[in-house]
Amino acid sequence: MSRIIMGIESSCDETGVGLVRLHDDGAVELLADEVASSVEQHARFGGVVPEVASRAHLEAMVPTTSRAFEKAGLKLSDVDAIAVTAGPGLAGALLVGVSAAKAYATALDVPLYGVNHLAGHIAVDTLQHGPLPTPCLALLVSGGHTQLLRVDDIASSITELGSTVDDAAGEAYDKVARVLGLPYPGGPPIDKAAKNGNPAAIAFPRGMTGPRDAKNDFSFSGLKTSVARWVEGATRRGEEIPVDDVAASFQEAVADVLTMKAIRAAKEQGIGTIVISGGVAANSRLSSLAAERCAAAGIELRVPRPRLCTDNGAMIAALGAHVVAAKRPTAPLDFSANPALPVSVVSL
Ligand code: KG4
Ligand code: ZN
Repeated sequence: MSRIIMGIESSCDETGVGLVRLHDDGAVELLADEVASSVEQHARFGGVVPEVASRAHLEAMVPTTSRAFEKAGLKLSDVDAIAVTAGPGLAGALLVGVSAAKAYATALDVPLYGVNHLAGHIAVDTLQHGPLPTPCLALLVSGGHTQLLRVDDIASSITELGSTVDDAAGEAYDKVARVLGLPYPGGPPIDKAAKNGNPAAIAFPRGMTGPRDAKNDFSFSGLKTSVARWVEGATRRGEEIPVDDVAASFQEAVADVLTMKAIRAAKEQGIGTIVISGGVAANSRLSSLAAERCAAAGIELRVPRPRLCTDNGAMIAALGAHVVAAKRPTAPLDFSANPALPVSVVSL
């Protein structure tokens, strides 16, 4: 008999509730994916304000849950198991989702799973492209994370190969957007401006690509500073800032390093599939360059549609379904959220 899994996400500024059906053959089908975002409340601060995010989760949790059940045409009593993001993320924000999940699991008397947000970003791809070939290599690029991961089993075995030593890729987009006078979050407006710019106009640095640098790690803070210096210099000289060219050149530097390192790691690990996920995976240049380079290297590329790439509840429901299918243990009802949960811990 198929089972209904509810997923709750509240690690950052998106309150997400997802519902999936886990079929007997292990296939996972998306039924509902409702998201309430507090992004507009953070825009004037240029970044997420944790206290504001927590309060917004509290207000959005019940209405978002109701909408998800309405969309799926299901009742709360149809739920067979609940998965919630246990970490990593903002402590106060995580707490709201974990508390809600515990309340629903107790009231409905169903098993509860505390799962890893980062693993959720990878698991979500199965909703669109079916089971993940294993092993596969995941490039996770969001506002908070930039990581290369080896996935041997989405329900139980993920190994970090490398990560950023400073800013996350999305954070670099957000900071560069601010320098260019573009709105927050910076990814979408930079992506748009870059379409009219010349990616070769300015040679911005490719961080951590020297012979002595850790191969699988990333650095974006030098790139961000370099863009800021370039803009300051032009402003001092009274020149008009060619926003489109700066955006395109910055974006090229990011996409170049991300794709080069992901493909190199896949080749070294003997892995034939790369999955790119997280908010920055929505970037048009990242996906086109990745497609080009993966094709040349004979590597299969999987990128979930943008809506699934950014934070949502369906990714947590999808991961929950894989964890349930793998018969992993449930979380004790007194478990705590862990803001620094390592990616190697797929479920608590
Ligand atoms: O995964 P996500 O929704 O939240 C986190 O877990 O951080 O990612 C948000 C990040 C933001 O930094 C945003 O600027 C970036 O994803 N982003 C993009 C694009 N759309 C969103 N970055 C580059 N290009 C885009 N099209
Ligand atoms: Zn995320």
